[in-house]
Amino acid sequence: MHGPSRNSLPPRAFRTPVSCEPFGIYVHWPFCTAKCPYCDFNSHVRSRVDDSEWVSGVIRELEYVAGLHGPSRPMVETIFFGGGTPSLMSGKSVAAVLDTIAKLWPIAPAVETTLESNPASADAERFRDYRRAGVNRLSLGAQALNDADLKMLGRLHGVAEAKAAVRFAQACFDHVSLDLIYARPHQTVEQWRSELQQALAFGTDHLSLYQLTIEPATPFAVLARTGALAVPNDDTAAALYEATQEITEAAGLPAYEISNHANSGAECRHNLLYWRYGDYAGVGPGAHGRLTLGGRRIATATERLPERWRARIETEGHALVERNELSSDDAAREHLLMNLRLTEGLDVASYESRWGLSLNRSRFKTLQDERLLEFSKGRLAATPSGRLVLNSLIAELAD
Ligand SMILES: C[S@@+](CC[C@H](N)C(=O)[O-])C[C@H]1O[C@@H](n2cnc3c(N)ncnc32)[C@H](O)[C@@H]1O
Ligand code: SF4
Repeated sequence: MHGPSRNSLPPRAFRTPVSCEPFGIYVHWPFCTAKCPYCDFNSHVRSRVDDSEWVSGVIRELEYVAGLHGPSRPMVETIFFGGGTPSLMSGKSVAAVLDTIAKLWPIAPAVETTLESNPASADAERFRDYRRAGVNRLSLGAQALNDADLKMLGRLHGVAEAKAAVRFAQACFDHVSLDLIYARPHQTVEQWRSELQQALAFGTDHLSLYQLTIEPATPFAVLARTGALAVPNDDTAAALYEATQEITEAAGLPAYEISNHANSGAECRHNLLYWRYGDYAGVGPGAHGRLTLGGRRIATATERLPERWRARIETEGHALVERNELSSDDAAREHLLMNLRLTEGLDVASYESRWGLSLNRSRFKTLQDERLLEFSKGRLAATPSGRLVLNSLIAELAD
């Protein structure tokens, strides 16, 4: 297998950053111990995973992607291990990936390095290893804080394991986030209020609160179709969303994005990079990236299936199956869609100058009258009700 080799690296003196725009790296770890019945992420269950073999592939792909930048490489501000379940990786594997990144790109002194963890594969020793490797932010998939719902969601952990994982994480990392899924079958607003208050009481500085989405081709989709899984109706879902905004805001973790809430200054910088339409490289099976190369906006995607991804790495040194230049119109549309997910919205003047276009002001007015948009001090933002119908809002604006 191919490991990092000194000879394949550009000399340090040439690795000066070309821009001060933030740059991030996403590493996808595609394995899980079991597949949750609601999840359509690129995650796979395998009886045996040899970490070191997969990590060698990630290292080769990182070397390849770094080469796309040429000798002048941007400064890495954020790194994100997502999945799948990256907390199945050993500390040694995480360290090998981080060391490689540090050899290939300049690293910002305050780099944010996040790793997603499932409480079922969380333990104090493992967290300490991640910390030693350089991880400084942990995102824990708690999903629910009652055992009956965790069982219904097909999770391998109970509330006790989730609580223990939060304690270990808080002892190890500067920043800890919890993922919770709400709008579950039969969930009432009162039950969710009390669960959310329990989650806030842990005192983490970030919460990702997702409404349960019934994804096509998942076991939950089959159950929902046959009526065996009764998800809340639109009114209850709206009431749950409103309660979420009210409770998190009162606790000092208001929404900064549709599903993401944080103390001021504890927003996930890596995800902000996506939503502010910055540049990031994506490596590992099924990872996406957005790179600006020679002034052109390039969308990348890697092979999704882990075994095929690895075979491609063996033969080609990378598994990028898409590397498409985005037209200015497509990029402008993506930028709008991403920015309007954020509470801060869009800086209209810099958006218009970046893409050489002007947004239709009379449309702003109509959408403002419908209370879907706010336009103030040069920034355009979706209201909470606007964020719920974001796709149609973008269609109106970009038309
Ligand atoms: C990659 S997982 C997080 C780490 C780890 N795999 C785990 O589940 O603990 C990303 C998150 O997406 C959310 N998610 C996945 N599928 C979802 C769905 N259908 N509806 C709502 N949230 C979902 C879950 O909250 C999950 O924690
Ligand atoms: S929710 Fe997390 S643990 Fe469950 S299948 Fe998806 S990625 Fe794996």
